[in-house]
Amino acid sequence: MLIKKPSDIKPSEITPESVYRNRRQFMADTGALAIGAIAAGGLPGLAIAQDGDALKARAPVSLSRSAPAAWWEPKFANIKPAPDSGPFYTGEALTPYEDVTRYNNFYEFGMDKGDPSSNSGRFEVDPWSIEIAGECGRPGTYTLEDILKPHDLEERIYRLRCVEAWSMVIPWIGFPLADLLKRFEPTSRARYVEFQTAVDRDTMPGVRSPFSIIDWPYQEGLRIDEAMNELAFMAVGLYGNYLPPQNGAPIRLVVPWKYGFKSIKSIVRINFVEEQPNTSWNDLQANEYGFYANVNPNVHHPRWRQDTERRLPHTLFSRPIIDTRLFNGYGEQVAHLYEGMDLARYY
Ligand code: MTE
Repeated sequence: MLIKKPSDIKPSEITPESVYRNRRQFMADTGALAIGAIAAGGLPGLAIAQDGDALKARAPVSLSRSAPAAWWEPKFANIKPAPDSGPFYTGEALTPYEDVTRYNNFYEFGMDKGDPSSNSGRFEVDPWSIEIAGECGRPGTYTLEDILKPHDLEERIYRLRCVEAWSMVIPWIGFPLADLLKRFEPTSRARYVEFQTAVDRDTMPGVRSPFSIIDWPYQEGLRIDEAMNELAFMAVGLYGNYLPPQNGAPIRLVVPWKYGFKSIKSIVRINFVEEQPNTSWNDLQANEYGFYANVNPNVHHPRWRQDTERRLPHTLFSRPIIDTRLFNGYGEQVAHLYEGMDLARYY
């Protein structure tokens, strides 16, 4: 993985959490999280009340192509807010929407941090389906509506720590991965879960690039007990909105105690398997990117240290550096998964 200079980041202030929280309260009070407007041309769009600087300041990312059919709207009208304490809440300043949606890794759309937001405008997410395969009782191809139907949406505020040593704090919208996986009745032979991203040469310039370094599709995996952990999350939105394409629309994984590359975007296949699956970065450079990829300040990347991280946003005058925590600060929830394992060997 490469470290790029974040030249696309504009100076901006960290959104005070009180501003964002006030907005959420306002939306809850007025029912304003309801998403009702239909954008010009008949595509579903978003009507979002703005009561604070957080949303007023945010970048005008076009959501028309990432906003799927109307059946999403009632789901987004009824999001359970993040709690005020516990693992689904960090107590830290949120990374502004502009940085979350403009400083991205999504190699299918290019390798620079600004490429995914610049190049994903033609990416289509409606219709969308996910193939469920392998060691489970209910394999098949399910529409996104089928996938989402039984799940209530909730907000979770998580830290995201990239292996490149930058980090963000993001308010995701989604539902627990475990709740989804259980519906397909994994068998006792399902020891791992493999995930794949869509591949579309037409709309993904990174996929058709001759300089592409990844063997597409982008692929990731978790051990089944990791996948069933309460923190593992399927995100369909952020900051109260649908996911923009550059963040993995219409549905992605978020695994907050692992380096960001495990949080695979735009998922089209979930496969229950017996053996540890191949994963894209591990295939590419196994001595640098492990299968486990747990955030660990004591195990350094061969080319850079991992005990500190740059918290976004950066400004011209400030690049906040903070200490990296084991399991990204989620040890209480996940350390038991790795008891007795040598984390330097299983990195
Ligand atoms: N998923 C796919 N399909 N392709 C990618 O290039 N990059 C990963 C991960 N998921 C990636 C991906 C990496 S390296 C990181 S750090 C996170 O997405 C970044 O997520 P974000 O852009 O929403 O912050």
